[in-house]
Amino acid sequence: MNLLIHDLNDEEWSKVSENYEGWEIISDNKTIKPCIGCFGCWIKEPGECVIKDGYERMGALIHRAEEVTVISTYTYGGFSSFVKNVFDRSIGWVLPFFEIDHGEMHHKRRYPEDKPITFVFRGQLDEGDKAKAKAYVEAVCRNFHGIIKEVRFEEVPDGNDKKDTGEAVTPDQDKVILLNCSLRADNSNSKKFLDRLSTELTGDVEKINLSSYINRYDELSGLLAGAGTIVLGMPLYVDGIPSACLRIMERLEKYDTAGEKHIYVVSNMGFYESLQLKNLMSMVKTWCEKCGYIYGGGLAIGAGEMIGSIIASTGKGPARYAAEGLDKLLAAINVSAQIGDIYADAYRFPRALYMLAATSGWPHGARKNGLKRKDLYRQR
Ligand SMILES: Cc1cc2nc3c(=O)[nH]c(=O)nc-3n(C[C@H](O)[C@H](O)[C@H](O)COP(=O)(O)O)c2cc1C
Repeated sequence: MNLLIHDLNDEEWSKVSENYEGWEIISDNKTIKPCIGCFGCWIKEPGECVIKDGYERMGALIHRAEEVTVISTYTYGGFSSFVKNVFDRSIGWVLPFFEIDHGEMHHKRRYPEDKPITFVFRGQLDEGDKAKAKAYVEAVCRNFHGIIKEVRFEEVPDGNDKKDTGEAVTPDQDKVILLNCSLRADNSNSKKFLDRLSTELTGDVEKINLSSYINRYDELSGLLAGAGTIVLGMPLYVDGIPSACLRIMERLEKYDTAGEKHIYVVSNMGFYESLQLKNLMSMVKTWCEKCGYIYGGGLAIGAGEMIGSIIASTGKGPARYAAEGLDKLLAAINVSAQIGDIYADAYRFPRALYMLAATSGWPHGARKNGLKRKDLYRQR
């Protein structure tokens, strides 16, 4: 069996469907739900997503496939929100446990094989875009135990470049929205980082959880379109932007903006090395270019699960670099300045210790769900 994941519309699909007869097809039937970051696919139903919407068996499907093809609209350097949603829902394909690969922390395999994957990006891509797409899928494959079979590019009209809101929106320069894009909502690390930032922010500051607007994306896009400054707080998902956040970004791209809009980003991740966030930071920047927004800068936080748990109470110890980064970002936001991206690793906290602590956390979480350590290795 071969597996195709694609975001083609009906008309586009009808032109190529005969090439994929006998394949398992994962396409957008408009019912897919975003990953909520619960890790149920590791500690509750190992290998399978706990959200039962027809997209829960991605890990097993990837395993059974001889090879995988991914066809996606090129979106800010990576996948469209639908294709990214499928990848976010596929992490049960790997184990929660860690290993070092190419000097970086990554997940161990659940299944014995690495999977050959062909990537097809569609859109109006220049050489810079193609380089970004390649860098992104290299990171995905390293993280996901994939082997890049081929990366192809198809020139098609850019469907997202028409502005569809009628009159241009004039952002209120005093309005600052802190958008927590983690669907863990108030329990997220993203929220904790945004909260620390918000204490000394000036202007008319509003904190919003994206999770409160999951079925009201148009309403949220309208709110965001009207703000002069947006600070995005988000976790790293499969080396990129979480699909729920991408969906909002795709919608905002359709708004015509009259006047300045500044964007800042605070992103955190599970692995140790903050540099693994470089594709995500680049995607936010690319989105700003597409929308005509001013990218003000970003903070990339490694070992986010640990730093997030202490940042409310201290800016010292392992949280030192993250706290310093937040201070610099805060100063920039308050005067609408642009700064270079800041990469903050845990201060003087060895990677081996972080990995040990994270590793022992998974069986502990599984026990609460009535599972034994060996259950976490379940294959489907
Ligand atoms: C679907 C999914 C994909 C993830 N992918 C990555 C990844 O590629 N690299 C990484 O370092 N962490 C990854 N993580 C871990 C999160 O980035 C990490 O748990 C983060 O601290 C969550 O932040 P939050 O509490 O703000 O949601 C992933 C988590 C989930 C649920």
